Amino acid sequence: ARKAMKDYLLQQIDNRRATLAEHNLPPETTDPTVVGTLLPDDVITGILLAEVDGRKLGDDERLVMLNQLLVGGNETTTSLLTNLFWRLLEKPELYQQVRDDPSLDVIAIEESLRMDSPVLGLYRTNTEETVFDGVMIPERSKVMATFGAANRDPDIFEEPDTFRLDRDPDELRKHVAFGLGHHFCPGAQLSRLEAKIALRAVVERFPKLRLDGEPQRIEAFLLWGKRTLPVCWD
Ligand code: HEM
Repeated sequence: ARKAMKDYLLQQIDNRRATLAEHNLPPETTDPTVVGTLLPDDVITGILLAEVDGRKLGDDERLVMLNQLLVGGNETTTSLLTNLFWRLLEKPELYQQVRDDPSLDVIAIEESLRMDSPVLGLYRTNTEETVFDGVMIPERSKVMATFGAANRDPDIFEEPDTFRLDRDPDELRKHVAFGLGHHFCPGAQLSRLEAKIALRAVVERFPKLRLDGEPQRIEAFLLWGKRTLPVCWD
């Protein structure tokens, strides 16, 4: 599957290069007027035309980026959905509340991201010695930034281990399920939108949805979501 995906993406890049060549444009063009005219206005074109520090990217670098977008955006959003429905269906009154009040969609999604962060943590290597919260971290240490733990910090969130639909939006905004700073997730708004659409579609079409057995978690220890979430409806 990995090879098939690589071949597919390379083909997409090559097709765009061929189109440029047909119009006597060099493959290393950065001319933005080709976007949405000669070439589709999409992320593959964006990465093909991009320049970083005054140079074009190589195909290997392009493939890494495109893969990261695909992988980073796939299982994470699936986990958000399974975690969200799991919490709502565990307490059927919560499911009903959301079903009856679309204004709760956003709260339910953000509360799910906080309480059940799909990416529990990621590693960092610090490039220089640093003191963080009173702890000295030597240069080139491996540090794990645990977003999941931060999102259950009792100094920030009231009753952090409880899934609540009555949280103040200002409190909820403090979760770091999408990271923080330079590497903040570029797909955050897309996954929020996907979750909103999916949540409304399911609660409206399956008003009597309920759990039907024990869910199983996905295996990767850094990630948190359900591999299976058995449900049934009347
Ligand atoms: C609920 C869904 C998602 C969650 C919980 C999530 C979470 C995260 C987290 C925690 C990071 C790391 C931030 C850091 O290193 O500080 C990240 C980075 C990233 N995410 Fe997401 N993500 C989600 C959806 C998506 C989607 C839909 C896409 C793409 C369409 C995506 C693409 C990426 C990429 C490319 C990065 C790397 C950014 C960088 O290093 O600068 N993610 N995401």
